[in-house]
Amino acid sequence: MEIDITLNGAKRTFEAERSDSLLDVLRCNGYTGAKRGCDTGNCGFCTVVVDGEPERSCIKPVATIDGATVETIESLGTQDDLHPIQAAFVDNAALQCGFCIPGMIMQTRSLLADTPDPTEAEIRDGLSGNLCRCTGYEKIIDAVQDAAGRMNDEQTVATDGGDTVVAPNACSNDGCPRGERR
Ligand code: FES
Ligand code: FES
Repeated sequence: MEIDITLNGAKRTFEAERSDSLLDVLRCNGYTGAKRGCDTGNCGFCTVVVDGEPERSCIKPVATIDGATVETIESLGTQDDLHPIQAAFVDNAALQCGFCIPGMIMQTRSLLADTPDPTEAEIRDGLSGNLCRCTGYEKIIDAVQDAAGRMNDEQTVATDGGDTVVAPNACSNDGCPRGERR
């Protein structure tokens, strides 16, 4: 079947099996920022934003999102030009192995879109479904508070909302073992 979505600001059509998850399709097409952790909807590593809401892409049947708008971590900054949330995670040393971080950041992006100045309790609640085996969470909380400040500052001075960075050269399904391009 074919799935039409707007992915990171660009209209895209993907070939997919009816049983594929959104994570399968993303990773098979080169969007490997969303990580496959538990594959059962419990760790949050695969979190992306679908129509403005954070979703566990490993349990989101791609067949149910035809026509949707999807944002992945590839829509944020680049290595040389980090998004404020990414910069806050780096500057607060809020990552170690980094495997949970794309999901953490996409969940944070949704949290801050809804609650630009969250309390610590709201941050803990907002990220409660995103697990991290390394950091002990304290630095992640610090990073989200820092990111909120940076984004509020940016919003104060921004006139155009910034640019959306679209991941270059996503590849086709050809030759990709089902769901396992890592
Ligand atoms: S890989 Fe999707 S929630 Fe764990
Ligand atoms: S930094 Fe390793 S799982 Fe979070």
